[in-house]
Amino acid sequence: MELKNMSNQIMPCILAIESSCDDTSCAVSFGGKILSNVIANQEVHRNYGGVVPELASRAHLSHILPVAHEALRLAKKTLDEVDAVAFTQGPGLMGSLIVGAQFAKGLAIALNKPLIAVNHMEAHILAHFIDDPKPEFPFLNLTVSGGHTELVIMRNYFQQELIGKTIDDAAGEAFDKCGKMLGLPYPAGPHIDRHSRSGSSVFKFPESKVADFDFSFSGLKTSVLYFLRDQIKKDPDFIEKNLEDLAASIQSAIIDTLVRKTDEAAKKYRMSRIAISGGVSINSKLRAEIIALGRAKQMEVFIAAPQYCTDNAAMIAIVGHYKYLAKMFSNLEVSPSPRLERR
Ligand code: KG4
Ligand code: ZN
Repeated sequence: MELKNMSNQIMPCILAIESSCDDTSCAVSFGGKILSNVIANQEVHRNYGGVVPELASRAHLSHILPVAHEALRLAKKTLDEVDAVAFTQGPGLMGSLIVGAQFAKGLAIALNKPLIAVNHMEAHILAHFIDDPKPEFPFLNLTVSGGHTELVIMRNYFQQELIGKTIDDAAGEAFDKCGKMLGLPYPAGPHIDRHSRSGSSVFKFPESKVADFDFSFSGLKTSVLYFLRDQIKKDPDFIEKNLEDLAASIQSAIIDTLVRKTDEAAKKYRMSRIAISGGVSINSKLRAEIIALGRAKQMEVFIAAPQYCTDNAAMIAIVGHYKYLAKMFSNLEVSPSPRLERR
C-alpha cells in the first residue's frame, strides 16, 4: 500500500497520549518507531475491585504532565521536535478521556502542530504495526480487553469491518468478575492465568450459544456464581482447596469460545492471517491455542508484545504516525466520545 512507501520518506515525530481508562500513558514515535512508552498505573482502584471513574480522572490529572515529560526525556526529543500530538478520543470513561483530550489540545495549540484523534479500539489492532513482522492486509483480528471483545476484518489501516462483538460482558470482564468470586485481586485475569498453570479444567461450565461471531460471557459468570455457592455449602474451604482447577476451568470456558469463533470466522472469510490484541491477548492459553490454530490451518499468526497488548500510548502513536502520513488531522473542536464507533 502507498502508505508503506511514504513511511520511508516522511519521518514524523508523534507525541501520543492515552487516558481512556485507568492508565495514564504517553509515548513518542519517530518515523513509525517507538522511542518511549511511559505508563503510570493507578493503584488507587485496587481496594475497590474495579476502576472508580472519578478517582481515575483525578489520577490522570496528576500523572499526565510528569508522564509526558518522562516520555520526551526517554525519547531524547524536545517539544520543538514534535510534529503532531495524537490522543485517544474514545471509547472509554468520559472523565478520563477529557483529561487526555484537553492536554493534547493545549499542546497542539501551544506548539502550533496538528492534532490527531485516535479510536482506542483501532489502536489496539494497529499495535501489530509497532514491531516486525507486521501483518499484511487483509487479516482477522480478535480484540479482547477489559471493556471489549471484537472480531474485526482489517482491510487496510483505516478500513475495519466489525463482524462480531460481545452482547454483554467483555472477555477481560469475565476473567475479572469470576476471579473476584475466587477472592483474587483486581484485575484477576493475570492471576487466573498464573493459577491455571498448575490446575486442570475439571469443572465444566456451559459454553454460550450466541449466533455467528458474537460473544456472551454473562452466563458463565452466573453459572460460576451458583456452582461456587452450592459447593461452599458442602465445604466452606472449597475454593481454597480447588483454586488451581477452578482457575483452569474458568480460563478454558472463556478461551475455548474465543478460539472457536476465531477459527470459524477465519474459515468463513477465507483469512490466511489471524491476530490477537488487547489485555487478554497476554493470556498464555489464548496465545498457545491461537498459535496452534494457525499451525493447524496454515494461517500466519500475529501477537503483539505484552507491553503493547494492555492499554498504552505506543499504540496511539503508531495510529498517529499512519494518520499523519495520510493527513488525517482533527480540528480543535473534536470532542472525547465514551462510545466512539468506527467510521
Ligand atoms: O486492554 P486492557 O489493558 O484494558 C482495556 O482496554 O480494557 O485489558 C485489561 C484486561 C483486564 O480485564 C485483565 O484482567 C485482562 O486484560 N488481562 C488478562 C491477562 N492479562 C491482562 N486476562 C487473562 N489473562 C491474562 N494474562
Ligand atoms: Zn484498551
